Amino acid sequence: MEHLQQENFSKKRTYEIAVIPGDGIGPEIIDSARSIMRQVAANYNFDVIEKQCLAGGAAIDEFGVPLPEVTLKTCQSADAVLLGAVGGPKWDHVPTEQRPEKALLGLRKGLGLYANLRPAKLYPALSAASPLHPTIVKDGIDILFVRELIGGIYFGERGRSGSGSTLRGYDTESYSVAEVERIARMAFIAAEGRKKHVISVDKANVLESSRVWRETVEKIAANHPAVTLEHLYVDNAAMQLVKRPSTMDVVVTTNMFGDILSDEAAMITGSIGILPSASLGEPDKPGMYEPIHGSAPDIAGTGQANPLATILSVALMLRYSLHQSEAAKDIEKAVDQVLSEGWRSRDLILPNQTVDPDKIVDCDGMTEKVLACL
Ligand code: IPM
Ligand code: MG
Repeated sequence: MEHLQQENFSKKRTYEIAVIPGDGIGPEIIDSARSIMRQVAANYNFDVIEKQCLAGGAAIDEFGVPLPEVTLKTCQSADAVLLGAVGGPKWDHVPTEQRPEKALLGLRKGLGLYANLRPAKLYPALSAASPLHPTIVKDGIDILFVRELIGGIYFGERGRSGSGSTLRGYDTESYSVAEVERIARMAFIAAEGRKKHVISVDKANVLESSRVWRETVEKIAANHPAVTLEHLYVDNAAMQLVKRPSTMDVVVTTNMFGDILSDEAAMITGSIGILPSASLGEPDKPGMYEPIHGSAPDIAGTGQANPLATILSVALMLRYSLHQSEAAKDIEKAVDQVLSEGWRSRDLILPNQTVDPDKIVDCDGMTEKVLACL
């Protein structure tokens, strides 16, 4: 018995990670994230087996489709998926069904990733980079967006009917009770571990799907009495987000409203280059982790990309999929420290801001700074 326990104790855990570098700066930031992953694996004595996959433009070039079957299969059988970014002007003119973005939508659906967690956090060291007035951000911003990811209008029935001037394009928004229940549950559980406040965003003054959304969120709220629930219509939510972001904790909303509001939230933190995201489905299934920024084709290959959002995505992956929360915290602390020490990639410097040129680092430089803190 004792012998067995010892064997278990000394047995290294091995995780299989599907790695999708993607397009533009994707491969550069993924390289950086991989070196961070290898370092924490060594520190915490676990092994990572990386399975490189193609998706997005890179897959269109190689296979003629944005999401090859083999990529989806590899991701489905992995413990987690780490993705850089997909898309770029090179593929802007391919038919809609073949666009690189289809890879993202296909991965989300194919992995059942119904919840997209996007933390929008204002790092004190970067508070000057927020476009909001200092009196508004003085109490900080720390909002967790919980966006429904595989339902609603992005996956609803769509098409065209008629012709000429009566040609009509349509997309449909619909939500079932079951779809709202699972995303609401995720939001309330997240809020229980935070400031215990949930804002549910809908358009229930107009849309029937929103009325079902609201009724269902209220039903789930009843099972989480420690959490207070507030409802906002989406137009008002867009205003409140710039007026009183410090009062927001967890925001749960539909696929489309979440897409829009989470970009607004990222922008007010002034640091879109450092925000990670996690897309989660059923607990025993792989989650997908990616920076919230895009593939930045304008700076691809220059070495100037900021790897921090991808590095922080590794932290979320360690926490939610690999259950290595200490390793996750180490990465988050390391990033905090690097920013407090004043290290900056170019995207984190405001126009007219003076920064010691010795403190400006490129993608590799930033990675080394984080590694040094691990
Ligand atoms: C995002 C992106 C995607 C989305 C696009 C690229 C399909 O904007 O992850 O927010 O709308 O979900
Ligand atoms: Mg978006």
